[in-house]
Amino acid sequence: MNRNNQTEITGSLRLGVNIDHVATIRNARGGRHPDPLRAAHIAIEGGADGITAHLREDRRHISDSDIARLKAELTRPLNFEMAATDEMVSIALRHLPHACCLVPERREERTTEGGLDVAAGGDGLRSVVDQLKAAGIRVSLFIEADEKTIEAAARIGADIVELHTGTYCERALEDNAAGVAAELERLKHAACLADNAGLEVHAGHGLTYNTVKAVARLPEVRELNIGHFLIGESIFCGLTAAVQHMRALMEQARREA
Ligand code: PXP
Repeated sequence: MNRNNQTEITGSLRLGVNIDHVATIRNARGGRHPDPLRAAHIAIEGGADGITAHLREDRRHISDSDIARLKAELTRPLNFEMAATDEMVSIALRHLPHACCLVPERREERTTEGGLDVAAGGDGLRSVVDQLKAAGIRVSLFIEADEKTIEAAARIGADIVELHTGTYCERALEDNAAGVAAELERLKHAACLADNAGLEVHAGHGLTYNTVKAVARLPEVRELNIGHFLIGESIFCGLTAAVQHMRALMEQARREA
């Protein structure tokens, strides 16, 4: 039995490590160092169940050749984050990653701000989901924890929704306890609704050692995708230790739930 099947059976929580910001540092000087593929291997050694990489339209961090190398050499599933454009669909169909996570993308944004407006995506978005699924790729939609959006995601045939945890993490950074509680309630409700609608539930964005446990405690959540904090933390303690510590917190939260 492989590790992924085992995860399905035990209902435990997977960790996807997003390595985009290794590429951000590399691109600051050009050249090849630090190499996102090397970081991916180290993250897997540290306990990552999968690797996430976002090929943005402007190629600001991950490059086309990073995606090709990750797909060719990774020993764990690749979650390919992409905008729902013809260009990205054809790249995904060429490389056939384990999963594609469709995200909204605006050139001027610093990071993925807000979730996908699934209801407004209409037939265009449905066609992207259909094309990827027909190629055997699992399709995830990165969405706000919102009832109408979850219903729309189920309607267009997504396999997974990834709930945006950015606002929850912002409230935590502001030490806004009431805001944190309200955001966690929203995430909890959305995770339940999505699970009831037959969607696998993932979550991510902005998670840190301080904020991960409350999300990891939600029983419907099957995977967390975490990047910026882990890559930043690895400057101080190394990537293996950062991933190991994050995993330990996730597992602790799951046991306490
Ligand atoms: N999930 C999605 C869909 C994202 O776009 C991102 C950011 O690239 C993440 C998770 C990870 O967020 P962070 O880098 O803040 O941990």
